[in-house]
Amino acid sequence: MTKALPGTLIVFEGIDGTGKSTQIELLGEYLLENGHEVVVTREPTDGPYGQKIRQLYMNRDLASKTEELELFLADRREHVNTLLLPALQAGKIVLCDRYYLSTAAYQGANGFDPIEILRLNDFAPEPDIAFIFEVSVETSLHRITKGRGDLLNDFEQAESLKKVKKIFSELDLPFIYRINAERNIDEIHANLLSVIDTVIAHPLADPLEQL
Ligand code: ADP
Ligand code: TYD
Repeated sequence: MTKALPGTLIVFEGIDGTGKSTQIELLGEYLLENGHEVVVTREPTDGPYGQKIRQLYMNRDLASKTEELELFLADRREHVNTLLLPALQAGKIVLCDRYYLSTAAYQGANGFDPIEILRLNDFAPEPDIAFIFEVSVETSLHRITKGRGDLLNDFEQAESLKKVKKIFSELDLPFIYRINAERNIDEIHANLLSVIDTVIAHPLADPLEQL
């Protein structure tokens, strides 16, 4: 859905462990300090469908491929209706950790046509910016296991991440900005600021100064 709403939707995409959550936290703080109203959210959500999806992390065979795709779509539909649309209608800046390009890439890697998946997401407002964080699969696995100290779940296996990374690299939409996420945290943050400057009204440190 083309977004004709007053708010700004910025989504963060890429394979696991690329540093999305780290950058969302930094950008959220920056925008708040500069007087913007910010909502930080993520998919899968913490709602009923999101909770079902999390049960699949440890055993993806609990659902068929079609059921898995339907769960992500149902979770997004609920997210759009209950949180994203109201926040965007209220003029807020929404930072969303994963959105429909993740469905195209992950469920695409699982056998569906990525273009068909994008079509199934037509109900969801188009983002103003989709950052796709790009790192090698080696860096991704290293950050998940060494950085976060996590074990790899069923969505994070090297072979499937390679396929997911390939689909992300082939997506071609006007709102996509590719980020070299192999760099250090500060360099990436500065890169994101230079891009968002093009879509949001200039930050106001103190709205009273305008009077
Ligand atoms: P994601 O949300 O994409 O899964 P995280 O933000 O959780 O990724 O980062 C994964 C791990 O990598 C964390 O331990 C984090 O501290 C670390 N990390 C994040 N960004 C960088 C970076 N630019 N360089 C090195 N390590 C990073
Ligand atoms: P992640 O973003 O790391 O969140 P969490 O905090 O729950 O670990 O993981 C979400 C996983 O779900 C990730 O491996 C990608 C996958 N995913 C899909 O397969 N399709 C989708 O549409 C979305 C939003 C996520």
